[in-house]
Amino acid sequence: MTPIDFIQHILPPNHTPVKTGYGQAPVNIALSKYWGKRDVALNLPTNGSLSISLPELGTETRLSWHETGPDKITLNNEEMAPEAPFVKRLSRFLNFFRPDANGGFDVETLNTVPTAAGLASSASGYAALVKALDDCFQWQLAPRELSLLARLGSGSASRSLYDGFALWHKGERADGLDSYAEKIDQTWPEFCIGLLEIDTSTKPIGSTQGMQQTVNHCELYQAWPEKAEQDLATIHRAILDKDFQTLGATAENNALAMHATMIATWPPILYWQPESVAAMHRVWQLRQEGVTVYFTMDAGPNLKLLFLETETPALMRALPEMKCLKPFA
Ligand code: DP6
Repeated sequence: MTPIDFIQHILPPNHTPVKTGYGQAPVNIALSKYWGKRDVALNLPTNGSLSISLPELGTETRLSWHETGPDKITLNNEEMAPEAPFVKRLSRFLNFFRPDANGGFDVETLNTVPTAAGLASSASGYAALVKALDDCFQWQLAPRELSLLARLGSGSASRSLYDGFALWHKGERADGLDSYAEKIDQTWPEFCIGLLEIDTSTKPIGSTQGMQQTVNHCELYQAWPEKAEQDLATIHRAILDKDFQTLGATAENNALAMHATMIATWPPILYWQPESVAAMHRVWQLRQEGVTVYFTMDAGPNLKLLFLETETPALMRALPEMKCLKPFA
């Protein structure tokens, strides 16, 4: 199945833009990671993943259609050059939805996260874009269908349709119609995320390329899909039981295992900076001192700390540079 066939399964026949579309979506942080695709064109993952959204950070997108001329993409109030990789990727995605080949979309996107800095701006970006398309064409799709469409733009975007915890099912079907994210029905007001920004400049290798390289050139990767599914089930259970220590320990181990596959790839992929490693040691030392805190990391050098509200004063004293976010505030 091609992405176009896939999209035709989901979209209603109405293919004419009706109005200017608007969408906004949060960033999400995976507690159990997505790393590897079993189908690159359809963005089908080798394993399921589970995330928490950060409503304070995300993307807002406005979108309209013009009958003639190419796409015009504005990111954070700056018009982007047509040859910029960001624009090329976006326009390729928009090709799936174009009513005809002569026209183009005007897309104005505002990010409240640094683009491509390991804080998953592509996740909130494609989720907001799909919501803006839904509004522009007035399709009125359900979240599950929006999640399927967002997945085609960026895998992790499938999870950014929801606030709170979200679970992206790996799915079994070759056509990918069962690989979407769903909200996990649990609120956890005490749950906190601490951002330790080590370096927010653009990363040397993006996730799409990094995971392909790992799948193709890492012998350890064979062990990943099974471990990832086990961790996902453990974290899901821990969320339902509000068992924070199991959640934190499993999430930290899952992130380190993902990075182990990256490091064992040839040529190696190492997103860590010396300061990232120093911060990991700091977290382990704080745990030894009795602070219940864990970390996770994505395809970048920054750490995201996981803890409950009771630990906030101790952590703010130990790590005053940390930005504290409350996903359920
Ligand atoms: C390490 O969703 O950015 O953040 O599907 O190719 O766009 P593409 O990749 P992307 O990968 C995210 C990888 C990760 C882990 C995660 O968010 O699950």
